[in-house]
Amino acid sequence: MTEQSNSGSNSPASVKKTPAPPARLGSKHFLGIEGLNPLEINSLIDRGDMFADLIQQTTSLQPPLSDVLRGRTVLNLFFENSTRTRVSFELAAKNLGASVLNINVAGSSVKKGETLLDTATTLNAMHPHILVVRHNCAGAVQLLSQHVDAAVINAGDGRHEHPTQALLDALTIKRRIGRVEGLKIAICGDIANSRVARSNIHLLSTLGAEIRLVCPATLLPMDIDAMGVEIHTSLEEGIEGVDIVMMLRLQTERMEGTETPSQREYFNLFGLDRNKLQRAAPDALIMHPGPMNRGVEIDSATADDVERSLIRTQVEIGVAARMACLEALATEGAP
Ligand code: CP
Repeated sequence: MTEQSNSGSNSPASVKKTPAPPARLGSKHFLGIEGLNPLEINSLIDRGDMFADLIQQTTSLQPPLSDVLRGRTVLNLFFENSTRTRVSFELAAKNLGASVLNINVAGSSVKKGETLLDTATTLNAMHPHILVVRHNCAGAVQLLSQHVDAAVINAGDGRHEHPTQALLDALTIKRRIGRVEGLKIAICGDIANSRVARSNIHLLSTLGAEIRLVCPATLLPMDIDAMGVEIHTSLEEGIEGVDIVMMLRLQTERMEGTETPSQREYFNLFGLDRNKLQRAAPDALIMHPGPMNRGVEIDSATADDVERSLIRTQVEIGVAARMACLEALATEGAP
């Protein structure tokens, strides 16, 4: 692996970049990575890279970085909890000059029994331009997109996809290593319940990475054969020689209770620590989409390793990646 920078988020100062144009998507909505072509994916990554540079050069007292969303309303509608995704979409939209509204689902009429579609048509009557939606059911965001005039971004739907997470992960890798193609990447943990894994398998494979999935047999997804990836049920074997170890949390909210042994036993077998990490490439990097459960899938010494952990950088880069998505939809046909 050849690193171009020793900083988690800085691009190599010596490499002069041509500013990337706004990304182009062939769709009004951004619902998943599956179905995007390499040109669309690379246009989002390149534009996100440009925004990441811009954010690093900017002080917080400056006006919006762009006015591409001036006069437009972005509505964050999260039916599931979120810290990173919701806040970074809000910052991204404000950086582009938008007005942002955050719907508190816990305090909304959903709690009085209003359906997803009635909620969608109610919000649609107020003419938002972009809806950013997270829902616990796979397919719910796509269904909602068919009933509103706004452009819709999937901020995570059940076990299906979390496309902007995959995008920010790829951008984080590209800014640190300079490429995705040819890297060996192990995605480890609760694959069956992970929308992050699904989106990353699509995206990182499309960009030419070699993907390995590492998990207990009980946490393999049903459609694993169609994914075209290497499977390992031993962490030590699965991360042998890899460039990147991407850890995932046990998503107990989607489990039925019998998939894993005790958390201590799970950590012994599948938790990442410095000892197990020695099996990866000598300078292998560590990623995690968050939120982390320390001592379950990863220990603190590994998660907080300033030389090798990209976990905080992933959060930082999330704002830039989401700016690229919002801008693309504004350009592509949001009302
Ligand atoms: N990675 C991620 O989606 O984090 P949040 O649930 O905090 O948004």
